[in-house]
Amino acid sequence: MKRTKIAGIGMYVPEQVVTNGDLAKVMDTSDEWIQERTGIRERRYARRFEDTTTTMGVEAAKIAMQNAGVEPREIDFIIFATLSPDYYFPGCGVLLQRAMGMKEIGALDVRNQCSGFIYALSVADQFIKTGMYKNILLVASETHSYGLDFTTRGRNVSVIFGDGAGAVVLQPATRENQGILSTHLHSDGDSAELLSMPNPGFHAGKFWKEKRPAAPKGPYGGLFITEELLEKEDVYPYMDGQAVFKKAVIKFPEVIMEALQANNLTPVDIQLLIPHQANLRISQFVQHYLRLREDQVYNNIQKYGNTTAASVPIALYEAWHGGKITDGGLVCLAAFGSGFTWASALLRW
Ligand code: ACO
Repeated sequence: MKRTKIAGIGMYVPEQVVTNGDLAKVMDTSDEWIQERTGIRERRYARRFEDTTTTMGVEAAKIAMQNAGVEPREIDFIIFATLSPDYYFPGCGVLLQRAMGMKEIGALDVRNQCSGFIYALSVADQFIKTGMYKNILLVASETHSYGLDFTTRGRNVSVIFGDGAGAVVLQPATRENQGILSTHLHSDGDSAELLSMPNPGFHAGKFWKEKRPAAPKGPYGGLFITEELLEKEDVYPYMDGQAVFKKAVIKFPEVIMEALQANNLTPVDIQLLIPHQANLRISQFVQHYLRLREDQVYNNIQKYGNTTAASVPIALYEAWHGGKITDGGLVCLAAFGSGFTWASALLRW
């Protein structure tokens, strides 16, 4: 069985730069607080009525395909990872297929939030290894800025997230010992609500019965976006930051070590670790825990904030473009986020 290689990478971030100082003008926060707790200095926000999760994904995909030397008609399968789709349904996969004028190929949407890219990479890896597909386009894109609470109430979440997209083209490896060595996927739904956006959702069972007994309208249920919901502004993401932090610093090293051990390798062998850019403090904790040198870990959350599914491919693109990954180098990708879900992938460039 042939391994899967990353044949091309691309990224796109919208032009609009929003600094911590800009956010401090609309909510009670400060550059000092945000930098100290998260490492973030600025992030990009989509241009209203112009950028969408799909359009940004298309821009990243064009660059990835150009770098891979592949035309849209050569793509066999699309995988699109996002938590901020253009529509509730259908997913962004088909919107990208339409926008890029691709053939009537399969388009799969992945909903694993911060781990979305690595989950999607694992799915793509299986299709390539079995020989089912030769060119898979994997896109991860997020537009958070349209759905955040920019009042002081939402500050613990809103200052963290940014918009952007990353993409890769996956193909069968062409060199001996090149490509994805293994992927490792995990979940623990016990804490699903600790980092979540329950609305709009079809949670008409226990949740509605206990919290909003009067909510369903009409004889058989009714609207899932109720006036009450909008009045209470219960339409924003919720995050218990400390609980997320505590779990992340355990699961990141665990899933990285799992990948290394599965391949008889150790942290010393890593050329570059690209952790999901959740929070610079989490990345630094992981770096110290695994005794990795500064040059073995790539972080760019300072410039883009947390772009959930897009963060790993954006960082991968920058690292590759900046010459930090060389042929034969061991690259480790790792992510943790809402679900909770966490994952890693180990690959030889
Ligand atoms: N600006 C100023 N003050 C703030 C802000 C803000 N943006 N946000 C919260 N505060 C205040 C709080 O109101 C609180 O005030 P109080 O003490 O008067 O009550 C104080 O700061 C401390 O709040 P905590 O929530 O305890 O702050 P903490 O030190 O935990 O930092 C943070 C918050 C940065 C969110 C941290 O918990 C964290 O990084 N958690 C991990 C979250 C994360 O990485 N999420 C993304 C990963 S998962 C994913 O990618 C989807």
